Amino acid sequence: MQLETTPKTMTGEEMIALSKKHTLFEWSAQSKVDPLPVARAKGIYFWTPEGKRFIDFNSQLMCVNIGHGDDRVIRAIQEQAAALAYASPFMATEPRARLGAKLAELAPGDIDVFFFTNGGAEANENAIKLARLTTGRHKILARYRSYHGGTAGSMTLTGDPRRWASEPGIPGVVHVLDPYHGIERGWDSAEQSLAMLTEVIELEGPQTIAAFILETVTGTNGVLVPPDGYLQGVRELCTRHGILMICDEVMAGFGRTGEWFAVDHWKIVPDILTMAKGLTSAYAQLGAVGMRRSIAEHFRDNVFYGGLTYNSHPVACAAALATIQVYQEDHLIENARKMGALMKELLADLERRHPSIGAVRSIGLFGLVELIRNRTTRQPMAPFNGTSDEMIALGKFFRQEGLYTFVRWHTFFTNPPLCITEPQLREALAIVDRGLEITDKAVAQ
Ligand SMILES: Cc1ncc(COP(=O)(O)O)c(C=O)c1O
Repeated sequence: MQLETTPKTMTGEEMIALSKKHTLFEWSAQSKVDPLPVARAKGIYFWTPEGKRFIDFNSQLMCVNIGHGDDRVIRAIQEQAAALAYASPFMATEPRARLGAKLAELAPGDIDVFFFTNGGAEANENAIKLARLTTGRHKILARYRSYHGGTAGSMTLTGDPRRWASEPGIPGVVHVLDPYHGIERGWDSAEQSLAMLTEVIELEGPQTIAAFILETVTGTNGVLVPPDGYLQGVRELCTRHGILMICDEVMAGFGRTGEWFAVDHWKIVPDILTMAKGLTSAYAQLGAVGMRRSIAEHFRDNVFYGGLTYNSHPVACAAALATIQVYQEDHLIENARKMGALMKELLADLERRHPSIGAVRSIGLFGLVELIRNRTTRQPMAPFNGTSDEMIALGKFFRQEGLYTFVRWHTFFTNPPLCITEPQLREALAIVDRGLEITDKAVAQ
């Protein structure tokens, strides 16, 4: 029997037309969206229903870290769905129990208690709730160049322009500047940035601040790898003032940077660590808030006022356990490190040869290219929160050549699945190399 949900019955055009007619695409004016129809995927590739192959050079939304179509995860999901698809979060299940214990092994320091959510935004919502309940304080510091999710609180924490339409948002959130100030102005040192933060803490009143939330390595706002000393300094400032440090690793966690968690590069232990995306590599919807023992202790006798129907969803927890096993069996964290070193070299080579490249940054397989149109003023190839003819043309070229990646403002990303091989990485960057001829033409010296 042909079920309505049986895949491969629609053409790409039909998928697009019906999706556009009856569903809303995110962060877009609907008349402007131009979705890619996708029918199947395997490893680093996906295909349209008509069979056009794409290299997934962004792991979809920086989340399919282990690669597409892994049979081990698919089987785990099928088996869990057959045994027990759902149980109330007031019950205990084996996947919940095993995943909590597994994450306690992987997470840094004494982070060994987890609250499971449906994704990253809810993880951050619950992180600030935990911080407020534990400290009895209400303010939350967050950074401007950040994204923390699309729900009310997470949207308020978000510093980038996606926040604007949701303002005024929840009370008590104070934004601070990052060490990075954009392609024209560049970086502050760790010392300068920490001095600014110290001043804000003093002016806001440290006794009013529950937490500082930050992406350990900032994702969509530029793959911003913090200068050495910055995170250690933030840790020290937070400890000194009793402010909880919340690291949002929804994008940076699970091998993306070449370590299980990005904080591992700087050997710091935040008080709260949020995660999603790579936790299941997006095979199922799951986020988590990890907390240190001291925070978990607070809720031994105090109520944790938080809950979700799908908290600790058995199928999602089973998907996460199988995904973690894949990272381990296939040595994907090591591969991210090794291929990351190669990607860094190849990006540096592109930078030397293409005048439109203003900066390249990467850590592990988390990478980004910033494009400029003037080598003296370093004017970006597209304005802040905008686009330009050249960026649109570059995006079209990638698509035509079968390279899928995220093109945002004057930047594009290089975030392949962690299972990528050297020939695949070279093939993808060869397409990038050719595409950059388009933007090079726009450069004034
Ligand atoms: C750093 C960061 N935090 C939070 C989120 C929100 O996660 P979700 O979309 O799963 O709610 C994202 C999503 O891109 C993210 O990159």
